[in-house]
Amino acid sequence: MHTNIDTLYDNLWQDYVAITPSAHKVHALLKHEEHSSEIVNDHVAFRTFNLEKTSLDKLAAHFLALGYAEKGSYDFEAKKLDARHFEHPDTTKPKVFISELRVQDLTEQSQAIINKLVAQMDAQAVKNEDFLYSGRHWELTKEEYETLLEESEYAAWLAAWGFRANHFTVSVNHLHHIDTLAEVNAELKEAGFPLNTVGGEIKGGESVFLAQSSIMADRQVVQFGSEEKEIPSCFYEFAQRYNMPNGELYQGFVAESADKIFESTNSK
Ligand code: NI
Repeated sequence: MHTNIDTLYDNLWQDYVAITPSAHKVHALLKHEEHSSEIVNDHVAFRTFNLEKTSLDKLAAHFLALGYAEKGSYDFEAKKLDARHFEHPDTTKPKVFISELRVQDLTEQSQAIINKLVAQMDAQAVKNEDFLYSGRHWELTKEEYETLLEESEYAAWLAAWGFRANHFTVSVNHLHHIDTLAEVNAELKEAGFPLNTVGGEIKGGESVFLAQSSIMADRQVVQFGSEEKEIPSCFYEFAQRYNMPNGELYQGFVAESADKIFESTNSK
């Protein structure tokens, strides 16, 4: 486990930008608007399988050890996911959103593939300091990837990319020269980034105290045994939070919006 939160995020960021070149371009675009002030991340998201070796709890342990606390849980019925979010007492640190796939709810065929992948993993790997950006711990064929993709885009992404940040999220509230998510989206579109339009460019809004948008995932060539294939990698999200009636800024997530943000790695 990492003992330094900033070192963990530096490592997560380096791993993420290596397969998400758009992230550098987004930073350059927004930093220009911001006259070089720092970009603050609202949250970082992770995906996992709900199996013994890879459970959400085991990923969360890395963050609990750094002072994070669990603050909310979410159910994504159609995608067969459970998720929880974690917050750090230092509000300038990103929130953490971890989802896990309910493997037992998939077809026998998909379950067999996932069990075969995770069986190749060292049971202690999840405790390694670098686990959260350690990528794939198994061999995966193109056929297995495509079989999973038929049933669960999430399962296929996780099988191909393993453990790493799925997305980082710019906190629009912390931008000084841009006030709204709509303005961010306009900047992104002008710069040529494709927005995730599932459920509209902006998911949620002031009525649910959280507005979110995202660009579609970059695409990278991945090795599947002796074959290779270009598939979606990671993406950047943008979040604007609003005050609740009690005057406090909402810190949770909105399942209906997150459900659509998941589609940012969908190439179909
Ligand atoms: Ni997110």
